[in-house]
Amino acid sequence: MSRSAAAIAGKVISRMVRTSFATRIGSFRSWPDEALLLSEPLAMAEERTSRLRRIYANCLRDAWDGPTLFREAMNRHGGIQLDPEKRVHLSYPISMLMWGELAAWIVSAELAERLEDPDARMAASSQVFDEARHFYTLRDYLAALHVPAPKLDTYFAIGARRLLMTKDLNLKLFAMQILAEGTAQAIFRFLADAKIEPVLTDLLPYIEKDEARHVGLGVLHLPDRLAKLEPKECRALASEVGCIGDLFGATQIRYIEHYRALGAEPRELFRAADKMLHELASKLGNIPGTDEPYFRTADPSSPDYDRNLSLVIPRPGDPPGRLARAVRRLVDFGARALPA
Ligand SMILES: [Fe+2]
Ligand SMILES: [Fe+2]
Repeated sequence: MSRSAAAIAGKVISRMVRTSFATRIGSFRSWPDEALLLSEPLAMAEERTSRLRRIYANCLRDAWDGPTLFREAMNRHGGIQLDPEKRVHLSYPISMLMWGELAAWIVSAELAERLEDPDARMAASSQVFDEARHFYTLRDYLAALHVPAPKLDTYFAIGARRLLMTKDLNLKLFAMQILAEGTAQAIFRFLADAKIEPVLTDLLPYIEKDEARHVGLGVLHLPDRLAKLEPKECRALASEVGCIGDLFGATQIRYIEHYRALGAEPRELFRAADKMLHELASKLGNIPGTDEPYFRTADPSSPDYDRNLSLVIPRPGDPPGRLARAVRRLVDFGARALPA
């Protein structure tokens, strides 16, 4: 090595050494922080989190004023346009939905208080405002029908009370946010599409749109919680959810005549609700260690669906078969015999 090359090398090295000592002090002395490294990619979890956070923002964006909307619809159509007999039939599903909104209001307030995840709490907090508005709007509508409010159906009352009384947040999230909110969304769409009464037809799409956000909270947050449970706990949860689903389903069987008297075909409601619940169940996957979904659903796209549906709910005008008669007798007997 020539003398000039050695001098250059010495200069380079001494400069580096000086710089290295200089960077050992100051705020960047330990940069980079290896705690920023990940063991798993964050992209998927981040997408879920930001979608969960968006529920709160979308609630503010889409908020509507219940009393104003109700008054405007009443003025536009000159009040409720429905004959007295049909008003009585309509009061059954409307009062059920109204009490369901009250239950959803109470449950979402509890979720807002008790969920650990801040984004899930934000979503639940925004839902409290939605459910309060839904309850007040449906209560106004029921009062405007000017018929006596029917007693809440036994099965629905038992299912809602089970949901309200549990301290288990997983059961609350599952049975309310997925099962009840998903079914409610299908019922609101079904009643709106049937165009039973113009004031109601104007109001329902607003409620239905809100319910879609509420299902979103369940779909985005529940899988993280289910992943932390033991298979045994998942099975117990699935059984509780299935029971609440059966209770809500029994009420819909008892309302078949009310829907038909209003010109709305209940087979379409069952088809729409099954489609919604089938899609939601498939998003949650199977109970760990089994090939069973978390709750039983029938897939309306399966070739047997229509035939199986007819066994329980015959087509209009068709005489009920043995199974349909037995199911109906059992459901009606239970409604009289069960303590509620
Ligand atoms: Fe609601
Ligand atoms: Fe809701």
